[in-house]
Amino acid sequence: MSGQRGNPWQRLGPGPLIAPSLLAADFMRVGEMVSAAVAGGADVLHVDIMDGHFVPNLSMGPGFVQSARAFTDCPLDVHIMVTDALYYAERFAEAGADSVTFHIEADSDPQAVIDLLRRRGLGVGLTLRPGTPAETLRPFIDQVDMVLVMTVEPGYGGQRFMEDQLPKIRQVRSWLGPARRLEVDGGINPATARACAQAGADVFVAGVGVFRSGDIPGAIAALRASATEGAAERR
Ligand code: DX5
Ligand code: ZN
Repeated sequence: MSGQRGNPWQRLGPGPLIAPSLLAADFMRVGEMVSAAVAGGADVLHVDIMDGHFVPNLSMGPGFVQSARAFTDCPLDVHIMVTDALYYAERFAEAGADSVTFHIEADSDPQAVIDLLRRRGLGVGLTLRPGTPAETLRPFIDQVDMVLVMTVEPGYGGQRFMEDQLPKIRQVRSWLGPARRLEVDGGINPATARACAQAGADVFVAGVGVFRSGDIPGAIAALRASATEGAAERR
């Protein structure tokens, strides 16, 4: 392992980034699936953490991230769908996350979470539920590396993409400017990735679309091709 760590959003080059979500991997074969995704060009691995409280589902914990960290050099972006974002941001930083993406609706003071992640040199991602207005991010937007616009209600993989989030993507892109990242997560396939890229997204999370496709490298390549087309068609 080269062991190069640090804020992936500042380290990775421009262009669409593909972030397969391990939530959709077969947990009995997760190492094999991570290897296939990384060999197939995954830029980032997306790790969905659910606490059974902020969302009505449970997923994995810090031990999973620790094992993933030891297994691969691919950057780990940990999306924490948890009520106590400050506490868990620290736990996942300790476990080896490269970036933590937390919800504006969590109970924690967003500024305190941002400060913690900055102190530790991690990437800072901020996200919101589909029903939360983009304006709620505004006070923090200059301090984050990435905004994740959720395109499904968080909690489960395999849901249908919400087209009504496209105007929010356009709005957030206008605030972020061209340099920072705008990620989409939920129901992403080549067609929806293209629509999101047209609206200004440049990081594409996909769970079912990659890990249940039967062709992990092919699915990653198809997402990248569509996102690249969408970016060229941006208006
Ligand atoms: C939903 C998670 C997503 C999810 C996406 O709560 O944040 O990352 O894994 O899954 P797909 O791509 O299957 O819609
Ligand atoms: Zn996610």
